This record gives sequence, structure tokens and C-alpha cells, in this order.
Amino acid sequence: MKRMSRIAILASGRGSNLQAVLDAIDAGLLDAEIVGVFSDKPSAPALKRVANDLRWSADAKSFPFREAFDAELADAVNKCRPDWIICAGYLRILSTAFVERFRGRLLNIHPSLLPKYRGLHTHARAIEAGDAEHGASVHFVIPELDAGAVVAQVVVPVQPGDSPETLAARVLPGEHALLLATLQLTCAGRLTERDGVIVIDGHPLFTPLHLDCAGNLA
Ligand code: GRF
Repeated sequence: MKRMSRIAILASGRGSNLQAVLDAIDAGLLDAEIVGVFSDKPSAPALKRVANDLRWSADAKSFPFREAFDAELADAVNKCRPDWIICAGYLRILSTAFVERFRGRLLNIHPSLLPKYRGLHTHARAIEAGDAEHGASVHFVIPELDAGAVVAQVVVPVQPGDSPETLAARVLPGEHALLLATLQLTCAGRLTERDGVIVIDGHPLFTPLHLDCAGNLA
């Protein structure tokens, strides 16, 4: 029998994506367990969503440089033996050493239709550009920011009069569904990455999967 996948989550803020994963596990929709939640901000609300013994945090600002913090973070993550490490609202750029240590099982959810709008303020940038559509992407993490192979995307319309806040609120449920659908594939052992190429059910994926109205990836 296939064992349950072990998922570690990196989060800096409220943790609604983490909560979506926890709810899916509780509802029997995802054959996985959360084995640790890690934060660069000890006050992050995300940490409170799991039991004490699953929480790890340190104030990144108290470390002399990025690599020093990331080395401690990496050791803590490694200790919980995760199959998958998910950046879900993790707002620090990961050092190359961290990314290389976990490469191939490190995913990020990013609120834009990558390759558009890497980095911050994605909703404001989409509105400013006059885009008709915005959305979110799940991608493998490589050292270059938000530049790894995109696994899957969800598209959301931009509506007249949208502010960054209203648009973000429309994208967020899509993010939750997208992350769950992607994790269902990874945890079932159907999706891997080799040398920058995503392989699904043994076949290379040349364009990202898209979430349909039923919340399935196609
Ligand atoms: C999400 O929009 C995520 O895509 C972005 O930060 C936000 C985090 O939300 N990177 P939450 O902390 O999961 O609620």
C-alpha cells in the first residue's frame, strides 16, 4: 500500500492556503499529512493553524544574512522528512543552497499567470496593465525568482473597477483549489520534475495544466 505523502508548508502570513490543504486532508480529499509549518515570522497567523509540535519559526531579521537563516530553516524542514515542500504565502526569497537541497520537491503558489508578474504586487500590476485575465500558478522553485517550470494555472477575470484587493479576493479561492488539485497529483505520485521538465503520468508536460470549473486539472 502506498504510504501517505508528507507535506511541509512554508508561510509568512495568514495561511489560508495552508488551511485549504488542512481542510482537504480532513475531508478525505488528499492522501497526505502536514508534517511541519515553517515561518520566517514568529507572529505569522499561519503557525496557529497547526498544533504546537508542528510549528517552527525564527525571526529572519535576527540572522546576519539570508544563507544563515535558510541553513537553519533547511535543517528544520529536513528533520520532518517531507516528500513535498510548499511555499504558500512565503514572502522571503529562498537562497540557492536551500532550493538546491530540496529541488524537485519544492513548489510555490504565486498569484499571477506566470511568466507574467514575477515578484510582488501582482494584482495591482495586472490591473495597471489593463489585463482582462489574471490568476495564479503553481510552479517548481528554482533559484531564479518565480521562474521555475509551471505545473498548473487558474484563470480569473479582471472586472471593471477592480482594486488590487477585490481582484486578490477573487483569485484566492482559485489558488486554494489549484493548490489542492496539484497536490492531489503530486501525492498520488503522478507528477515529478526532472531537469526542469515536468512529467505527468510518464509524459512530459509542455504547457501548464488548467483548472476547470469542477476544480479538476486538465
Ligand atoms: C497568496 O496570494 C499567495 O499566492 C501569495 O501570498 C498569499 C498568501 O495567502 N504568495 P495565505 O497566507 O495562504 O492566505
